[in-house]
Amino acid sequence: MYTALLILSVTCVGWLAAENCSVPFLTGLVYQKIDSEPQNLTIEHSIQLTEDSFHLLIVNETLPELCRNSVNIQYELYVLQIRNVGLAHIKPGAFNITPTLGLLKISYNPLTALKKGVFQGLRVKEIDCSNNYISSIDEEAFDGIPMLEVLRLSYNAIKQVSPEWFKNSPNVYKLSIIFNELTSLPARAFQNMAKDRAVKLRLSANRIQDIDEEAFYSVGNIEILRLNGNKLESLPENLFVNRTIRRLEINTNKLLCFPDKLFQSGVGSLAFLDNPTFKCPCLEKVRHFVETGNINIWYPAIICEDRAREVNIVFNYNKTYELPLILRPTEATL
Ligand SMILES: *[C@@H]1O[C@H](CO)[C@@H](O)[C@H](O)[C@H]1NC(C)=O
Ligand SMILES: *[C@@H]1O[C@H](CO)[C@@H](O)[C@H](O)[C@H]1NC(C)=O
Ligand SMILES: *[C@@H]1O[C@H](CO)[C@@H](O)[C@H](O)[C@H]1NC(C)=O
Ligand SMILES: *[C@@H]1O[C@H](CO)[C@@H](O)[C@H](O)[C@H]1NC(C)=O
Ligand SMILES: *[C@@H]1O[C@H](CO)[C@@H](O)[C@H](O)[C@H]1NC(C)=O
Repeated sequence: MYTALLILSVTCVGWLAAENCSVPFLTGLVYQKIDSEPQNLTIEHSIQLTEDSFHLLIVNETLPELCRNSVNIQYELYVLQIRNVGLAHIKPGAFNITPTLGLLKISYNPLTALKKGVFQGLRVKEIDCSNNYISSIDEEAFDGIPMLEVLRLSYNAIKQVSPEWFKNSPNVYKLSIIFNELTSLPARAFQNMAKDRAVKLRLSANRIQDIDEEAFYSVGNIEILRLNGNKLESLPENLFVNRTIRRLEINTNKLLCFPDKLFQSGVGSLAFLDNPTFKCPCLEKVRHFVETGNINIWYPAIICEDRAREVNIVFNYNKTYELPLILRPTEATL
């Protein structure tokens, strides 16, 4: 009798002291198939399924933290989504999920940090932690996720991309970090991304001013690089050496010119609308490049005077026009 009580209390203390925490009583929505109506799932202590399902959505409930084994899923599941539940802390080992997940999405939560060990070992193809308040990411946060292909971190407060990300996660080819607070891209920033396919980088709407010339070290093939809405005045020449960048979007920046090497980088699509500072001689180089290749182009709206040929060259959207130069009357002719 006494022994039993003692064991019970020790277990209890151990349970409190360990990283395990209890998931409060809440209701999840289960979509059994892709087109099923949702069914209520009562959740208590830990998040578990009772049968194979397509999508488990926990939305508009209260779930302030996830601790070790809070999510314990052994049935087949394709999408796990935790949205607007006040989730502020996720401890390592929170996701004990056996099957292969297509998507793990955690959004509209007051989550500020992604810790080492939270996603490690998960068999998941896409992680989407967009629309939170993430400002701190452990260097190891995305390590050891061998099936991971797509990582979305948009609409957060991320200040840095680390070259250490994605150790032992060799299949990440798509990274979206739009609407964050990046100010620079360091050397080797993407070095651990996929080597056997073209990468896609979405880095628009940050405050990027500076890109290290080795930022794309060991990334040979870039399908799309979006840098719209940043504060770039120039791009380093070496960015374009020994690699292909198929689509480059760099609208709404403060570019003055492109490095000449850009024109040898296999770029097939180049958008740089709304760069009012762009220099005329450079713009003419771009025009020459466009005329000699098969390139989709979007120019900033700028008028350049070509005095020698007595024309104004109007660059606008995807076209250029030439208009006769109306020479301003000089004092002598008045
Ligand atoms: C934590 O939870 C898991 C799964 O529910 C359980 O197997 C383990 O014993 C728990 N750990 C402690 C210290 O209570
Ligand atoms: C599911 O739960 C919601 C509240 O969480 C309730 O309004 C609704 O009636 C429940 N639906 C079913 C089918 O039980
Ligand atoms: C969750 O809350 C949002 C915003 O209040 C609402 O638009 C949405 O319909 C809610 N979803 C569910 C399943 O209750
Ligand atoms: C480009 O590749 C050549 C040949 O492999 C090498 O010599 C050169 O250093 C490389 N340049 C850069 C900037 O990586
Ligand atoms: C310019 O853009 C318009 C509309 O998007 C398109 O119809 C047209 O073919 C483009 N012209 C060139 C020269 O690319």
